[in-house]
Amino acid sequence: MTSAAPMIRLRGIRKSYGSHEVLKGIDLDVDQGRIVSIIGPSGSGKSTLLRSVNMLEEISHGEIWLDGVQVNSALTGRAFETHINRIRQQMGMVFQQFNLFPHLTALENVSIAPMKLKGKSKAEAEALARTLLEKVGLADKGGAYPARLSGGQKQRVAIARALAMQPKAMLFDEATSALDPELVDEVNLVMKQLAAEQMTMIIVTHEMRFAAEVSDHVLFMDGGVVVEQGPPEQVLKAPTQERTRGFLRKHLAQ
Ligand SMILES: Nc1ncnc2c1ncn2[C@@H]1O[C@H](COP(=O)(O)OP(=O)(O)O)[C@@H](O)[C@H]1O
Ligand SMILES: [Mg+2]
Repeated sequence: MTSAAPMIRLRGIRKSYGSHEVLKGIDLDVDQGRIVSIIGPSGSGKSTLLRSVNMLEEISHGEIWLDGVQVNSALTGRAFETHINRIRQQMGMVFQQFNLFPHLTALENVSIAPMKLKGKSKAEAEALARTLLEKVGLADKGGAYPARLSGGQKQRVAIARALAMQPKAMLFDEATSALDPELVDEVNLVMKQLAAEQMTMIIVTHEMRFAAEVSDHVLFMDGGVVVEQGPPEQVLKAPTQERTRGFLRKHLAQ
C-alpha cells in the first residue's frame, strides 16, 4: 500500500533578499491533520517560510507542494495567476495583525470571500459565516464592526474568515503576539479546536507552552536553517542542540 502524499511538502526551500539568504534549504512534510509549530529567534526566517508556502514570497529555489499539487509551478502569465489564486484559497493564513476590512461587519468580513471568489450567493455565504462565527464563539457579534471588537475577537473573526474558504490547511504567523495577555487563551482555544478537528496547520509561535500542548512536531529555526526538529517533548523538553537550548533558556527567562 502506498501512503498518501503529505498535505504540505517543502523541499530545499531557499529564499534570498538581494544577497541576503534568509532561508537556506528547508525541508518539511506535514501530513493531513497534523500540527507543526515553528519556533526560533526573531529574524530566523519563520515568517518568510510561512509566506513562501502560499506564495506571498517568491522563493529562489525549491519545491512547495499542497495536497499533491506543486504550488511553485512553471506556469506563467494568467495561467500562473489563476493557479496561485486557487492555491491561496486552499490555504488559510492568519497574521499577527488581523487585517479585517474596517468598513465591513464581522459577518461581512467572513462572507465576502466565498461570494467574490467562490460564487456563493449572499444567503449561502452568510449562512456559512454565521456557522463559523458561532464556531469561534462570536455568534452574537456578526453585526459588529472591527473597531467595536477586542483584539481576541478580531483575531477570531480573522480565523473564521480564513475558514470560510474551506481551506485544506491553515497557516498561523504569531496569531496571538499582538494580543493583550488575557485575550490569548480565547484564540488559542479556537486553534486547539481546529487541531482536534484534524485541520492541517503550521503555527509560528513564541508560546512554548502552547506549542507543547498542540503540536505533533516542532521545528526550531535559526539563521534560515532548521537546527532541530521532532516531537514537542523532545525539542522543547530535551533539545539535543546547544542553539535550541540557548533559545529556550532565554525565552523562558523572559
Ligand atoms: N521584504 C524583505 N526585504 C528584505 N529583507 C527581509 C524582508 N522580509 C524579511 N527580511 C529579512 O529576512 C530575515 C528573516 O525575517 P523573518 O522571516 O521575518 O523572520 P522571523 O519571522 O523569524 O522573525 C530577517 O533578517 C529580515 O530582516
Ligand atoms: Mg515573523
